[in-house]
Amino acid sequence: MNVLLLGSGGREHTLAWKIAQSSILSQLFIAPGNAGTSTVGTNVNLNLADFDTMLAFVVDMSIDIIIVGPEQPLVDGIYDFFKANEKTKNVIIVGMSKEAAQLEGSKEYAKSFMKRHNVPTAAYKSFDSNSVANGENFLDTLQSPYVLKADGLAGGKGVLIIDSLAEAKDSLSDMLLNNKFGEASNKVVIEEFLSGIELSVFVLTDGEKFVVLPEAKDYKRIGEGDTGLNTGGMGSISPVPFADAIFMDKVLEKIIKPTVKGIKADNMDYSGFVFIGLMKVGDEPYVIEYNVRMGDPETETVIPRMKNDILELFQEMNNGNLDKVKMNFDKRTAASVMLVAGGYPESYNKGNRIFNLEKISNTIAFHAGTINDDKGNVITNGGRVIALTSFGKTINDALNLSYKAADIISYDKMYYRKDLGKDL
Ligand code: AMP
Ligand code: GLY
Repeated sequence: MNVLLLGSGGREHTLAWKIAQSSILSQLFIAPGNAGTSTVGTNVNLNLADFDTMLAFVVDMSIDIIIVGPEQPLVDGIYDFFKANEKTKNVIIVGMSKEAAQLEGSKEYAKSFMKRHNVPTAAYKSFDSNSVANGENFLDTLQSPYVLKADGLAGGKGVLIIDSLAEAKDSLSDMLLNNKFGEASNKVVIEEFLSGIELSVFVLTDGEKFVVLPEAKDYKRIGEGDTGLNTGGMGSISPVPFADAIFMDKVLEKIIKPTVKGIKADNMDYSGFVFIGLMKVGDEPYVIEYNVRMGDPETETVIPRMKNDILELFQEMNNGNLDKVKMNFDKRTAASVMLVAGGYPESYNKGNRIFNLEKISNTIAFHAGTINDDKGNVITNGGRVIALTSFGKTINDALNLSYKAADIISYDKMYYRKDLGKDL
């Protein structure tokens, strides 16, 4: 198969690394990719918003399958665009229609989907600029803390959790009347606060049949002890000890099956991942959010645990055979530690040379924000720089290997959290 993988983060290097091991791979292209993806395939400088140029590339290179890493091209309708063109309508796309991508692209769309299909989630109401007063009244009926969510994509920053009622009301009008998050906050979902512990669950579905991938825990805050600003993710661990068999069975019956049934009942064109962000409240799972892609940095632990040939898996999905696939996973724990640029998630420098990557063994260095300079050196090119993934019998064994690797690698103002897994 000729493969085009879209994206340039740690998730994409991990997917590229896995695809490169497939027995049915011919050529692997990554657009735009990073310094890591160029070691397992060919980077191509395509703009993910320019569908026409991508189409020409797909036709020229006889691409058989397009794997869409990030959500934006899906929300922008890349799936519909390729399916509507005579030349590319048979290309397998790991993705879904623009409509279905609203499961991630619009919080209100996702919440009404959950309500309609009886998927457990926090109680909510949504408001627009004409209903600010109703929103304030709704806040009066809730208990602190208050959860306000911009409806649209806001780069993971559109969720506010606020203790004071007065502040929550101010933020509501800031979002609806003063465009606090631009167009993303033309509508706002206000929901009940769920108190519990979070985990990420991943499903691959053709819109009817599905397979479940290993769950993972992601560390979102920049600071140790889960303090400070939210980031794209500072590391991940899979499997998650508190997600025992009884709990995961509840997730299957109460969350995954109704979600996939809902996708079918709503006639969504779907052939891709569903990433379910869950809160375990007591012993019960509640959906916090859906994403229509794999998580990052969860991919960096979930995909290395998968033993199946990933291209064969996508082929089975395309043939409607996911119910016949036997999934095999490494039983050991995978832990990934994200090395980031000092200052991230606020302002930070790019272009710092990364040393000693070649000295890493027993750990896989998945590149996130990296690029090759004109001398072939690997330099930093983003806030999240390298995800160090290791396996171990226990969480600590796996983490210790990743932390050893982190001691070897260096670049100016390198930072990572040293407390991953302590909460588990
Ligand atoms: P989201 O973008 O919807 O995943 O929200 C971002 C983060 O806010 C989540 O990962 C949770 O940590 C938190 N969060 C979102 N909704 C709730 C809720 N209803 N109760 C408690 N925490 C929440
Ligand atoms: N790790 C969270 C995300 O990918 O959105």
